[in-house]
Amino acid sequence: MAKGECGEAVMFSMKILVAVGEACGADRLVEVSRCHVMTSMAPDIQHARIDLLEKFASAGGKYIVPTTVDPASLDLEHWREFKTPSDYYRSAMKLLQLNRRLGAIPNYSCIPYEQGLAPSFGEMVSFTESSYVAFANSVIGARANRESQGIAVSAGITGKAPLYGLRLKENRHGDVHVKLKGLDSSSFDDSDYAVLGYHLGANLGHEIPVIDGIKPGITIDQLKALGASVACKGSVAMYHIVGISPEARSRQEAFGGEKPKDVLEVDANALKRTREEISTVSGGKIDAVLVGCPHYSVFQIGKLAHQLEGKKVSTNVKFFLYTCQEAKALGEQMGYIKTIEKAGAHVSVGTCMTLSPMKYWGFKTIMTDSPKCAYTCPVDIGANVIFGTIDQCVRAAVRGIA
Ligand code: F3S
Repeated sequence: MAKGECGEAVMFSMKILVAVGEACGADRLVEVSRCHVMTSMAPDIQHARIDLLEKFASAGGKYIVPTTVDPASLDLEHWREFKTPSDYYRSAMKLLQLNRRLGAIPNYSCIPYEQGLAPSFGEMVSFTESSYVAFANSVIGARANRESQGIAVSAGITGKAPLYGLRLKENRHGDVHVKLKGLDSSSFDDSDYAVLGYHLGANLGHEIPVIDGIKPGITIDQLKALGASVACKGSVAMYHIVGISPEARSRQEAFGGEKPKDVLEVDANALKRTREEISTVSGGKIDAVLVGCPHYSVFQIGKLAHQLEGKKVSTNVKFFLYTCQEAKALGEQMGYIKTIEKAGAHVSVGTCMTLSPMKYWGFKTIMTDSPKCAYTCPVDIGANVIFGTIDQCVRAAVRGIA
């Protein structure tokens, strides 16, 4: 393959994979059965991203394993209503076309596991989206590293990836024992799990936490929120929850029979401080509310519809909900989307707040229920951020003030 006997695109891809493998100490390649790549513009590197895909597509590259894509850089249904500069539009469309030429599945979401496209336990995969990597490793038990676009695209074209990092069982054991001190997880809501993830990310860097004391009943959306936060604030690619994660049926299994390298105690005060630190300002007038990072499921859309029922978003506030095509279709059938739109909120499909041209709105202060959105928006949108629960976001949207 590296000699070009299977075509030019396979040759480029193999060269990349071998070089990455050598740099990361892999002694061989393994077969991967699915990949997830970016199809969005990224500040400063969109031309590099287009050039890379163009090179693979022009050389005849085709994904030979199912390859899904992250949200696009445009609202796929309503892009005309956004303040999208024409050169931005052209580049965004170019990226979509290139991924189509390569044969990507047009799911346009960071939650393929809620679109019927999830990997299975033990499956070797190559993914670019950090929140998906955390979910795949920690909730499903698939084997994913945090990888770049060049690696995931090459893996999609060859069906192979270097055997290093979290693809190896011995690297998947926990490092730090996280003890919840005086906290009862049965009273946690989605927001509490998101804050817990952010707190762990801030304190751990890339180590694997083993969280002890979470009671059964944690939902998929709460696991999704925890993973997105832990992966954005730190560079954590995997966490274990004892009794819930598939490779942590017991504390001993989570640590691979070894002693933890460290212990981190988390109490109510620590979470309260973290919750306050996520915002860049403590309150005041807001221009926008942005929810759906990671993309909302139909359950979350239902909760939001319930909160917005009979209310009106202030005329001074833009309210955007981001989700995937499947969750929106279900939400439409259940009447949720109608309720949300009647209240004055926009439902945006196949893109998200940090990957779409939000900065052109010129928002000064936004509010969100997502720590990941709060972390990325000051840079990507250039706005101040107030973090709150979904109830607080809805109240602020109606009053125009947080
Ligand atoms: Fe998904 Fe965009 Fe957030 S890709 S995790 S909604 S920043």
